[in-house]
Amino acid sequence: MKSLFVSAAALTGLVSADPLPLIPLPASVKPMEGAFEFSPVTAIRFDRTVTKEMELFAADLKARTGAAPKTAAEELRIMLQSEIRLDVDASLDLPAGGYTLDISPKTVVVKGKDAAGVFYGTRTILQLLPALGSEAWKDGAPERLQAVEIKDQPRFAWRGMMLDVGRHFYPVEDIKRLIDWMAFHKLNNFHWHLTEDQGWRIEIKKYPKLTSVGAWRDSSPPYGNRNSDDGVRYGGFYTQEQIKDVVAYATARHITIIPEIEMPGHAAAAIAAYPELGNSDIPGYAPKVMTRWGVHPYIFAPKEETFRFLQDVLGEVCELFPSKFIHIGGDEAPKTQWKQSKYAQDLMKREGLKNEEELQSWFVRQIGKYLESKGRRLIGWDEIQEGGLPKTATMMVWRDAKWAKHALSLGNDVVMATTSHTYFDYYQAPGASEMAKGKEFECIGGMLPIEKVYSYNPTFVAENAAQEKQILGTQAQLWTEYGKDMKKVEYMAFPRIAALAEVAWTPVALKNYDDFSSRLTGLIKHYDGGKLNYAKPVPAPKKETKDGSVIQSSLDLYEGHFIESAFDGRQDTFFWANRALKKDDDVTLKLKSPLAAATAVEVVTGGPASRNGDKLESGVLEASTDGSTWTKLADFKDGKASGTAAAGTKQLRVRVTAPQENWLIIHEILLGGK
Ligand code: ACM
Repeated sequence: MKSLFVSAAALTGLVSADPLPLIPLPASVKPMEGAFEFSPVTAIRFDRTVTKEMELFAADLKARTGAAPKTAAEELRIMLQSEIRLDVDASLDLPAGGYTLDISPKTVVVKGKDAAGVFYGTRTILQLLPALGSEAWKDGAPERLQAVEIKDQPRFAWRGMMLDVGRHFYPVEDIKRLIDWMAFHKLNNFHWHLTEDQGWRIEIKKYPKLTSVGAWRDSSPPYGNRNSDDGVRYGGFYTQEQIKDVVAYATARHITIIPEIEMPGHAAAAIAAYPELGNSDIPGYAPKVMTRWGVHPYIFAPKEETFRFLQDVLGEVCELFPSKFIHIGGDEAPKTQWKQSKYAQDLMKREGLKNEEELQSWFVRQIGKYLESKGRRLIGWDEIQEGGLPKTATMMVWRDAKWAKHALSLGNDVVMATTSHTYFDYYQAPGASEMAKGKEFECIGGMLPIEKVYSYNPTFVAENAAQEKQILGTQAQLWTEYGKDMKKVEYMAFPRIAALAEVAWTPVALKNYDDFSSRLTGLIKHYDGGKLNYAKPVPAPKKETKDGSVIQSSLDLYEGHFIESAFDGRQDTFFWANRALKKDDDVTLKLKSPLAAATAVEVVTGGPASRNGDKLESGVLEASTDGSTWTKLADFKDGKASGTAAAGTKQLRVRVTAPQENWLIIHEILLGGK
């Protein structure tokens, strides 16, 4: 794509050879000759069926230019000096959400297959204009929009983002801002994770204690020590009026909100509010709103009164949310309480259920029937298949892609939300370098660089075209144990959401990470203009040494770490072995070319990434000119060794001289201090 833009720029004499900063990349972009001058007199001519889309667009333009553009409904044949037309054309050969955008020196025309398509066309125009707050708007001079013909359509119907408001709570204004940014990336499904062990966040009129009790916890783990308590009461919830307001706000931006009410697990807050809904016949039963993260044992009892409660709750939820899908959670429901509960065990016998997994599926089926009676579809995390997957259920796959294959083979629809590529609560750069910025940069763990998000192809699990159709799409997961405020959530979400948006929207054949990266530079100007607290993209660690030298080791590496990191010229990446050390374990660097002169060698082991430091307690640093005879340069003392390797040295080796329980971290093997 890049070369296309370069040649177009040459053709038209436009100064910039940068690619159009569009993310997600449209299905088809044809640069044309010339440019449209967007100026203070540029008006919007609109089809009345997209009056709302026109109003939002006009407000977006006003926020940038400082003045509301003139607008005119299509049938009023008022002459306009310069216009952007917003039309709907249902006969367009495009799916729902598709649009064309023609920018010519004379005019700009958006034609949507439907109102959503028109809305997306306007988002594309906004991405092409200078960012909000940019200097370019200050002089009132026209902005040149390169002439282009865009024909665009979404790859998937489900392009989403999940936000957990159970672990932390965000005010309505924050949620709306996030919805605006989702829309800017042409995402259309906001999965609102509203209930958790640590807090119930949605007002339910029939059960006021859900929020008077369930929305509040006594303490939370502070940043930097997840196994402790800050002792500060914490909570909050959305009233039904606020929810209606957010739903309307999202709907206007062509975003569907899918509410999630967790069951049978992650329900401690609800059970704390109404203890009779839990497995109250077990020893030591004492539910409370949880104050620590993790998976907790309190799960709903499979009693009639629980189902009455859940139906009442879902009844109110269905009144508030018009979405076809209702998410019922289903993940991480420990079965210990059902095993202990006589009531649950008796029910299993009565219903002929072989184990507690089948009881969970039975539970899900009861809820599924209720949702069907309301004309809704049930979606749940992949554990809902454990005791048999209900026929009409849609599975949100988070653990292993094998569950997607399982559901697809049964004919069920899936949404791909696998941890490996969509869990945005993971670090986006090496954890040690993030934590070095401050404890508020703590994440749950793992690492998910933007490049890995970009590499995701949600249909890789499909075995044929029919199965591909069963994959509705994909979404990012923003779990918020480590998201105490929206600033941190923004940091976790952006710019990775740009990569996810392109995964979900752009035809797979057009995806190219280098091209995406150069367009991201343009998109980030909009992030800056909108004062988003995004993470500055850093190049993902590569599985290569800095100069083509080779490293080998008797040790295997801890998840997400590469052996090459010990000699990649970066202090923020590191070699991290994944087991206790044995005598004569080694890490050996085979230099690309022998040392030309005697050179200082330094190796520092250990680091804050590991609680135990993972220093080398007993070892030697050695050098070899032939790879078979070794000369000791230094012993490791307090995790460090430094010595001088002779000219002609071809290999350097760290060798363990006594077993140790702690693993091993090596940030960098330094030669001549570098
Ligand atoms: C999940 O991460 N428990 C869905």
